[in-house]
Amino acid sequence: MEIENMFSDILGKIETGVIVLDQVNRQVFFRNQQADRIWDFIQATYDYEELSAMMFNELDQIKSSNMVCSDRSLINCDHRSFAYRVCHITGTKQYVAVIINDVTDQNRLEAIDEASEMMNNISNVFSGIRHEIGNPLNSMKMALTVLKMNLEKFSKDEIKIYMDRMTDDAAKMESLLKSFKNFNMFEKPNTVRVDLDLFFKSLTQLLGADVRKKNINISIDILPEGRWVTADTRALQHVAMNILANALDAVEGVENPTLKIRGEAVGEKVFLSIIDNGCGMPDELVENAFKPFFTTKLHGTGLGLVISKKMLGQMNCDIKIRSEEGAGTTITLTMPKAKPPESDKVGSEIVYHQ
Ligand SMILES: Nc1ncnc2c1ncn2[C@@H]1O[C@H](COP(=O)(O)OP(=O)(O)OP(=O)(O)O)[C@@H](O)[C@H]1O
Ligand SMILES: [Mg+2]
Repeated sequence: MEIENMFSDILGKIETGVIVLDQVNRQVFFRNQQADRIWDFIQATYDYEELSAMMFNELDQIKSSNMVCSDRSLINCDHRSFAYRVCHITGTKQYVAVIINDVTDQNRLEAIDEASEMMNNISNVFSGIRHEIGNPLNSMKMALTVLKMNLEKFSKDEIKIYMDRMTDDAAKMESLLKSFKNFNMFEKPNTVRVDLDLFFKSLTQLLGADVRKKNINISIDILPEGRWVTADTRALQHVAMNILANALDAVEGVENPTLKIRGEAVGEKVFLSIIDNGCGMPDELVENAFKPFFTTKLHGTGLGLVISKKMLGQMNCDIKIRSEEGAGTTITLTMPKAKPPESDKVGSEIVYHQ
């Protein structure tokens, strides 16, 4: 049996859809049976021009970078999900392969996983709330009891000490409730084109005094391609402030504290990294960092990253942590790239809220 026939026989039988596009003659060069089945199901056409229009982003992604494969894209149709990637074929520029998989079952399993993870999180949330509200509440109750018993005996100054303590406790509860409000903020994000360069230059100004006091060296390096993203400016400001606040905490006490903000584009995505040379996190901490109320700080609520992740999700953005204990942490946000404005009126659409 000829080797070509052997491979085409195998390709015909596998569960993965394969389409090969001939970019020179602008035609579909090959497709296997599974691709046919999927294409029939989603009622897509085999017309080269329509196919390449549909996969414009992925084709552009592998053309404009050294990537072997594009990111995974999803097609949802009639309760089924199909994932495809566009890949280079080694040794040829003429042909590219489109690899398609039915990921419906995988998606369902992931949804079940997510739901059970959510149930775990809910019990964490309840015990967190019990703890965060329970402590100041108990302390207030104790202060009230002592005051009640000693009302006649205590001097005005002594009474004031107890009153102040109760005011502090009430403030703690108030700040927790404020965090909950943040969680529901920007349910419907108002996304606009944002100039990341200008955004971070303004934002780091806001950190000014703290940064100067601690002698932190901040650099902002947003490459032109990664400059424009689509986001809700207020939500993004909230997220960036949380991440920067964490980075500032992390560099406390290290030699030459440094914070780098970097932006670059890959295909239609912008990768924005906030890099610190602080204390870093052991693997276990990285795994827990997005769990509600997880904190290693005396006065932290452990909600900063949870709320940030939720806000980012609503803006079609993602967040990843890479960290090395004792060396530093890189937080990377993946954001949808926006087209630069036609005029040079840079940053004209941005409104900052302080
Ligand atoms: N850049 C960083 N370097 C080292 N550890 C970090 C960094 N960012 C986050 N962490 C760890 O992740 C934990 C969770 O962070 P998160 O922002 O959710 O809460 P927090 O900072 O503890 O509290 P809050 O944000 O409410 O003040 C932190 O307590 C810290 O241990
Ligand atoms: Mg924080």
